[in-house]
Amino acid sequence: MNRPLVIGNWKMNLDYVEAVHLVQQLGVVLQNKPLEHVDVVVVPPFVDLRSVTSVVESERISLEVGAQHASAHDAGAHTGEVSVSMLQRLNVQWVLVGHSERRAMYAMTDDVVAHTLRAVVRAGLQAVLCVGEELSVREAGTPREFVTAQLHAALAGVEEKSRPLITIAYEPVWAIGTGLTASSEQVRDMTEHIRTVAASLSLENTRVLYGGSVNADNAAALLSEGRVDGFLVGGASLKADSFLAIAQAANDCYDGKR
Ligand code: 13P
Repeated sequence: MNRPLVIGNWKMNLDYVEAVHLVQQLGVVLQNKPLEHVDVVVVPPFVDLRSVTSVVESERISLEVGAQHASAHDAGAHTGEVSVSMLQRLNVQWVLVGHSERRAMYAMTDDVVAHTLRAVVRAGLQAVLCVGEELSVREAGTPREFVTAQLHAALAGVEEKSRPLITIAYEPVWAIGTGLTASSEQVRDMTEHIRTVAASLSLENTRVLYGGSVNADNAAALLSEGRVDGFLVGGASLKADSFLAIAQAANDCYDGKR
């Protein structure tokens, strides 16, 4: 199996003071009890990034930092956007691309997702491509077809050297922030499908994460029965104890218990 990856997407929560506080809390626990078998990433709002990367670097906390979005453009007249090179300058290593909230609320089309993904990996940053169907699609019985189309639109033609920089997160929209977690069978079925589609696009051994109401209680089962390589966590990443419990579950799973 791939080394697990647990990412905390803070969404539009925590100002920079609160962000520093949470990262320091995470740092204290990780220093006392290092998680050797899992990569842990936090993804704060843009305005927190400078403070968070400074704390992570100065206190040598074993966390990496990501951004929730980036512009597909390099620079120029794009009011409100942030470029990949600006993120790079802050030592941000990861970028979420095409989160369902950006697709649904900020008109991020498949085409924009594809261009953004290319901008991120061209700069050598790690991209987390988010895919997932809405409830109506699942009820219509076509979630696989829907996700296949999203994957093809984003990944077809990605240069060979960029492929190792890509992680895929399956986040069914109906499970995000609803407390309705997809069942382990649904997760396993879709992540296996995603691996097959990714392989057909020459992405071998890509990490496939699950996101959607993950918490400390359901993480272990989703890892072992859902066969995911980790999680993209929203609400439960806003508190140090719940986020680290999820990371610990991933750590233990990889450490011979899976
Ligand atoms: P929740 O964990 O709050 O459901 O959010 C999932 C998500 O959208 C992470 O990107």
